[in-house]
Amino acid sequence: MLKSFVITGENGKIETMINLKDISVTFTQKDREVKAVDNVSLEVDKGDIYGIVGYSGAGKSTLVRVINLLQPPTQGSVIVDDKDLVALSKKALNEERKKIGMIFQHFNLMESRTIADNVAFPLKGSGLSKAEITEKVENLLELVGILDKKAAYPNQLSGGQKQRVAIARALANDPKILLCDEATSALDPKTTLAILSLLKEVNEKLGITIVIITHEMQVVKEICNKVAVMENGRVIESGQVIDIFNNPQKPLTLDFIRTATHVEQAEKQILSHTSEKVYELKFSHASDPIIIELYKRFGASANILYGNIEFIQNIPIGTLLVTFTGDFVFDDVVAYLTSQDVKIVEIGGSANV
Ligand SMILES: Nc1ncnc2c1ncn2[C@@H]1O[C@H](COP(=O)(O)OP(=O)(O)OP(=O)(O)O)[C@@H](O)[C@H]1O
Ligand SMILES: [Mg+2]
Repeated sequence: MLKSFVITGENGKIETMINLKDISVTFTQKDREVKAVDNVSLEVDKGDIYGIVGYSGAGKSTLVRVINLLQPPTQGSVIVDDKDLVALSKKALNEERKKIGMIFQHFNLMESRTIADNVAFPLKGSGLSKAEITEKVENLLELVGILDKKAAYPNQLSGGQKQRVAIARALANDPKILLCDEATSALDPKTTLAILSLLKEVNEKLGITIVIITHEMQVVKEICNKVAVMENGRVIESGQVIDIFNNPQKPLTLDFIRTATHVEQAEKQILSHTSEKVYELKFSHASDPIIIELYKRFGASANILYGNIEFIQNIPIGTLLVTFTGDFVFDDVVAYLTSQDVKIVEIGGSANV
């Protein structure tokens, strides 16, 4: 797992790169109104890799298209790199848009042009000479790892390679922000990891702030430092990925997190094989050897049925599924675990302990 990356200004303060305030987007179709984005405020700092997750139709793409004003908001303000985009003239807006690159699920390459020409396309009118453009394109293709394909055409490339071209093209104008709308959704798991690691490299090497839309919490877990969860046009929960994984507040968030771990699968298996009460213990950095302490202090022996550790932003989040035997007072166990920041929940049963 790679380290998270935070850019600070001269005074060491974290700087805001994208500030969406009270954004709403309403579409009118025939006589029906759809509130695709409903009063969303979102702050993305310089250097963030910010994930936006939600199921289909939640409003993710609409919200992200507001960031470069491809989708003007019905209400709210869009401040990017300290500029109020809604207030800019068309010309000034076009200049600001160059600071924002974008990639998509289906790559959107020009099939009749070579890879090099695809990447060179946004440099038209940049004032660079032909030789300078060639040099820049080659540097970009080298950065994304497919310089050897410069003379090929898109249909000769795999999905992962096409996405690399799209990333190179999105970086052509030296943007400060890269927006990724389901950029890995059309790729297999291995290629997805390779593209995510390239995005992380782009973030770290070039200092580019990244916003990633996805419906896979696995993507968030892999590279994002912050995340917002969207439902019905609203952001229902947001924050540091580690906090959200550790302590999700909303059922939908928990749903997403469970898809990114194998715990749910293990729970199902275990519950189908036992009639005993099974407990999930969740911990981030318990300082005591808790299993031994539970036995020594209270005579509670925990039988471990399953264990898993996820690393999020280099911080381990552990899950144990256990049954207890012994003659002990259950409230003592709960109180001790709570004092150690270990959460305990009975699984299968519905109530939290
Ligand atoms: N141009 C449009 N005209 C009318 N309705 C739209 C338009 N664009 C989006 N919508 C509606 O707004 C809502 C949010 O759509 P959006 O594409 O932002 O969702 P999403 O979270 O990106 O979904 P997905 O995961 O399927 O891409 C949906 O109900 C959609 O039908
Ligand atoms: Mg979408």
